[in-house]
Amino acid sequence: MKFFIDTADLDEIQEAHDLGVLDGVTTNPSLCAKIGVADFEGHIAKICNMIEGDVSAEVVSTEYDDIMAEARHLAQIADNVVVKVPLIKEGIKAIRSLSDEGIRTNCTLCFSATQALLAAKAGASYISPFIGRLDDISDNGMQLIEDVVTIYDNYGFETEILAASIRHPMHVLEAARLGADVATMPLSVIDQLLHHPLTDSGLERFLADWNKLQKELKTPA
Ligand code: E4P
Repeated sequence: MKFFIDTADLDEIQEAHDLGVLDGVTTNPSLCAKIGVADFEGHIAKICNMIEGDVSAEVVSTEYDDIMAEARHLAQIADNVVVKVPLIKEGIKAIRSLSDEGIRTNCTLCFSATQALLAAKAGASYISPFIGRLDDISDNGMQLIEDVVTIYDNYGFETEILAASIRHPMHVLEAARLGADVATMPLSVIDQLLHHPLTDSGLERFLADWNKLQKELKTPA
Protein backbone atom coordinates (compact mmCIF):
# COMPACT_ATOMS: atom_id res chain seq x y z
CA MET A 1 0.00 0.00 0.00
CA LYS A 2 1.25 3.47 -0.88
CA PHE A 3 1.10 6.22 1.76
CA PHE A 4 0.26 9.76 0.69
CA ILE A 5 0.03 12.73 3.02
CA ASP A 6 -3.12 14.81 2.76
CA THR A 7 -1.89 18.36 3.31
CA ALA A 8 -0.51 21.46 1.62
CA ASP A 9 1.72 22.29 4.59
CA LEU A 10 5.39 22.07 3.55
CA ASP A 11 6.65 21.37 7.09
CA GLU A 12 4.23 18.46 7.48
CA ILE A 13 5.24 17.07 4.08
CA GLN A 14 8.92 17.32 5.06
CA GLU A 15 8.26 15.58 8.39
CA ALA A 16 6.44 12.67 6.70
CA HIS A 17 9.10 12.51 3.99
CA ASP A 18 11.86 12.30 6.62
CA LEU A 19 10.18 9.19 8.03
CA GLY A 20 11.07 7.49 4.74
CA VAL A 21 7.63 6.02 4.01
CA LEU A 22 6.01 8.78 1.97
CA ASP A 23 4.90 7.91 -1.57
CA GLY A 24 3.00 11.05 -2.53
CA VAL A 25 0.94 14.08 -1.55
CA THR A 26 -2.68 15.05 -2.03
CA THR A 27 -3.84 18.66 -1.76
CA ASN A 28 -7.23 20.26 -2.25
CA PRO A 29 -8.52 23.85 -2.28
CA SER A 30 -9.58 23.66 1.39
CA LEU A 31 -6.13 22.43 2.47
CA CYS A 32 -4.51 25.28 0.49
CA ALA A 33 -6.90 27.82 2.03
CA LYS A 34 -6.12 26.44 5.50
CA ILE A 35 -2.48 27.54 5.24
CA GLY A 36 -3.17 30.64 3.12
CA VAL A 37 -1.41 29.57 -0.08
CA ALA A 38 -1.15 32.71 -2.25
CA ASP A 39 0.87 31.36 -5.19
CA PHE A 40 -0.80 28.00 -5.90
CA GLU A 41 1.36 26.94 -8.83
CA GLY A 42 4.57 27.97 -7.06
CA HIS A 43 3.45 26.04 -3.99
CA ILE A 44 2.73 22.88 -5.99
CA ALA A 45 6.13 23.25 -7.68
CA LYS A 46 7.81 23.37 -4.25
CA ILE A 47 6.02 20.18 -3.15
CA CYS A 48 6.95 18.44 -6.41
CA ASN A 49 10.59 19.30 -5.74
CA MET A 50 10.43 17.92 -2.22
CA ILE A 51 9.25 14.43 -3.14
CA GLU A 52 9.59 12.08 -6.10
CA GLY A 53 6.07 10.63 -5.80
CA ASP A 54 2.80 11.85 -7.21
CA VAL A 55 1.42 15.22 -6.09
CA SER A 56 -2.28 15.84 -6.61
CA ALA A 57 -3.20 19.43 -7.53
CA GLU A 58 -6.91 20.17 -7.88
CA VAL A 59 -8.66 22.21 -10.56
CA VAL A 60 -11.27 24.72 -9.41
CA SER A 61 -13.14 24.95 -12.72
CA THR A 62 -16.39 23.08 -13.28
CA GLU A 63 -16.91 23.49 -17.06
CA TYR A 64 -15.19 21.12 -19.50
CA ASP A 65 -13.14 23.72 -21.45
CA ASP A 66 -12.02 25.47 -18.28
CA ILE A 67 -11.10 22.18 -16.56
CA MET A 68 -9.07 21.18 -19.62
CA ALA A 69 -7.18 24.49 -19.73
CA GLU A 70 -6.50 24.45 -16.00
CA ALA A 71 -5.44 20.79 -16.03
CA ARG A 72 -3.03 21.24 -18.92
CA HIS A 73 -1.51 24.19 -17.09
CA LEU A 74 -1.12 22.30 -13.81
CA ALA A 75 0.34 19.25 -15.59
CA GLN A 76 3.15 21.44 -16.89
CA ILE A 77 4.36 22.34 -13.40
CA ALA A 78 6.23 19.03 -12.95
CA ASP A 79 6.23 15.43 -14.17
CA ASN A 80 4.86 14.19 -10.86
CA VAL A 81 1.77 16.40 -10.90
CA VAL A 82 -1.50 14.47 -10.99
CA VAL A 83 -4.48 16.67 -11.80
CA LYS A 84 -7.35 16.30 -9.38
CA VAL A 85 -10.73 16.59 -11.10
CA PRO A 86 -14.14 16.48 -9.36
CA LEU A 87 -16.52 13.63 -10.07
CA ILE A 88 -19.10 15.64 -12.01
CA LYS A 89 -20.28 15.19 -15.60
CA GLU A 90 -17.89 17.83 -16.98
CA GLY A 91 -15.12 16.32 -14.88
CA ILE A 92 -15.63 12.82 -16.27
CA LYS A 93 -15.56 14.22 -19.82
CA ALA A 94 -12.35 16.06 -19.01
CA ILE A 95 -10.76 12.96 -17.42
CA ARG A 96 -11.44 11.04 -20.66
CA SER A 97 -9.76 13.75 -22.75
CA LEU A 98 -6.88 14.25 -20.33
CA SER A 99 -6.26 10.52 -20.24
CA ASP A 100 -6.17 10.49 -24.05
CA GLU A 101 -3.60 13.32 -23.90
CA GLY A 102 -1.46 11.37 -21.42
CA ILE A 103 -2.21 13.68 -18.48
CA ARG A 104 -2.66 11.74 -15.26
CA THR A 105 -5.74 12.44 -13.12
CA ASN A 106 -7.07 11.84 -9.63
CA CYS A 107 -10.86 11.75 -9.74
CA THR A 108 -11.97 13.28 -6.44
CA LEU A 109 -15.15 13.55 -4.35
CA CYS A 110 -16.20 9.95 -5.04
CA PHE A 111 -19.05 8.76 -2.81
CA SER A 112 -20.51 5.79 -4.71
CA ALA A 113 -19.29 2.67 -6.51
CA THR A 114 -21.09 3.65 -9.71
CA GLN A 115 -19.21 6.97 -9.70
CA ALA A 116 -15.98 5.00 -9.30
CA LEU A 117 -16.95 2.76 -12.23
CA LEU A 118 -17.47 5.81 -14.45
CA ALA A 119 -14.14 7.33 -13.42
CA ALA A 120 -12.30 4.10 -14.27
CA LYS A 121 -14.04 3.84 -17.64
CA ALA A 122 -13.00 7.45 -18.34
CA GLY A 123 -9.38 6.49 -17.69
CA ALA A 124 -8.69 8.14 -14.32
CA SER A 125 -5.27 7.28 -12.90
CA TYR A 126 -6.64 7.40 -9.35
CA ILE A 127 -10.12 7.31 -7.83
CA SER A 128 -10.56 8.96 -4.42
CA PRO A 129 -13.44 7.49 -2.41
CA PHE A 130 -13.98 9.72 0.65
CA ILE A 131 -14.33 7.27 3.54
CA GLY A 132 -14.54 9.69 6.47
CA ARG A 133 -17.16 11.98 4.97
CA LEU A 134 -19.43 8.97 4.37
CA ASP A 135 -18.92 7.76 7.94
CA ASP A 136 -19.66 11.33 9.12
CA ILE A 137 -23.21 11.01 7.75
CA SER A 138 -23.69 7.48 9.19
CA ASP A 139 -23.01 5.81 5.85
CA ASN A 140 -20.32 3.12 5.42
CA GLY A 141 -17.14 4.45 3.83
CA MET A 142 -15.34 1.12 4.01
CA GLN A 143 -18.15 -0.66 2.17
CA LEU A 144 -17.48 1.74 -0.70
CA ILE A 145 -13.79 0.77 -0.75
CA GLU A 146 -14.76 -2.92 -0.76
CA ASP A 147 -17.21 -2.43 -3.64
CA VAL A 148 -14.72 -0.47 -5.73
CA VAL A 149 -11.97 -3.05 -5.15
CA THR A 150 -14.35 -5.81 -6.30
CA ILE A 151 -15.56 -3.92 -9.37
CA TYR A 152 -12.06 -2.90 -10.49
CA ASP A 153 -10.82 -6.48 -9.98
CA ASN A 154 -13.78 -7.91 -11.92
CA TYR A 155 -12.91 -5.90 -15.00
CA GLY A 156 -9.17 -5.38 -14.62
CA PHE A 157 -9.32 -1.58 -14.41
CA GLU A 158 -5.90 -0.04 -13.83
CA THR A 159 -7.25 3.00 -11.96
CA GLU A 160 -5.63 3.03 -8.52
CA ILE A 161 -7.93 3.16 -5.50
CA LEU A 162 -6.85 6.02 -3.26
CA ALA A 163 -8.66 5.82 0.07
CA ALA A 164 -9.24 9.45 1.07
CA SER A 165 -10.84 11.42 3.88
CA ILE A 166 -9.11 9.15 6.38
CA ARG A 167 -9.80 10.06 9.99
CA HIS A 168 -7.97 7.43 12.09
CA PRO A 169 -5.68 4.35 11.94
CA MET A 170 -8.60 1.88 11.67
CA HIS A 171 -9.48 3.45 8.32
CA VAL A 172 -5.93 2.73 7.14
CA LEU A 173 -6.00 -0.84 8.49
CA GLU A 174 -9.36 -1.67 6.90
CA ALA A 175 -8.45 -0.05 3.58
CA ALA A 176 -5.21 -2.07 3.55
CA ARG A 177 -7.10 -5.30 4.36
CA LEU A 178 -9.44 -4.65 1.47
CA GLY A 179 -6.59 -3.95 -0.95
CA ALA A 180 -6.84 -0.20 -1.57
CA ASP A 181 -3.74 0.84 -3.53
CA VAL A 182 -3.14 4.07 -1.63
CA ALA A 183 -4.17 5.71 1.64
CA THR A 184 -3.92 9.47 1.91
CA MET A 185 -3.99 10.77 5.46
CA PRO A 186 -3.13 13.76 7.62
CA LEU A 187 0.21 13.79 9.46
CA SER A 188 -1.65 13.15 12.73
CA VAL A 189 -2.85 9.76 11.42
CA ILE A 190 0.63 8.81 10.12
CA ASP A 191 1.82 9.58 13.66
CA GLN A 192 -0.95 7.49 15.23
CA LEU A 193 0.03 4.49 13.05
CA LEU A 194 3.41 4.52 14.76
CA HIS A 195 2.47 4.62 18.40
CA HIS A 196 1.50 1.82 20.77
CA PRO A 197 1.51 2.14 24.57
CA LEU A 198 3.06 -1.34 24.95
CA THR A 199 5.95 -0.26 22.71
CA ASP A 200 6.54 2.78 24.93
CA SER A 201 6.28 0.90 28.24
CA GLY A 202 8.30 -2.03 26.83
CA LEU A 203 11.12 0.26 25.74
CA GLU A 204 11.06 2.05 29.08
CA ARG A 205 11.46 -1.31 30.88
CA PHE A 206 14.27 -2.52 28.55
CA LEU A 207 16.24 0.68 29.10
CA ALA A 208 15.66 0.69 32.87
CA ASP A 209 16.84 -2.93 33.17
CA TRP A 210 19.88 -2.19 31.02
CA ASN A 211 20.84 0.85 33.10
CA LYS A 212 20.39 -1.15 36.31
CA LEU A 213 22.75 -3.82 34.97
CA GLN A 214 25.36 -1.19 34.09
CA LYS A 215 25.22 0.21 37.61
CA GLU A 216 25.55 -3.29 39.13
CA LEU A 217 28.54 -4.06 36.89
CA LYS A 218 30.28 -0.87 38.06
CA THR A 219 29.60 -1.55 41.76
CA PRO A 220 32.39 -3.63 43.31
CA ALA A 221 31.10 -6.82 45.00
C1 E4P B 1 -7.97 13.85 -0.49
O1 E4P B 1 -7.63 13.81 -1.61
C2 E4P B 1 -9.14 14.60 0.00
O2 E4P B 1 -9.11 15.89 -0.46
C3 E4P B 1 -9.18 14.56 1.50
O3 E4P B 1 -8.78 13.29 1.96
C4 E4P B 1 -10.48 15.00 2.10
O4 E4P B 1 -10.45 14.77 3.48
P1 E4P B 1 -11.48 15.44 4.50
O5 E4P B 1 -12.79 14.77 4.34
O6 E4P B 1 -10.87 15.19 5.84
O7 E4P B 1 -11.54 16.90 4.15
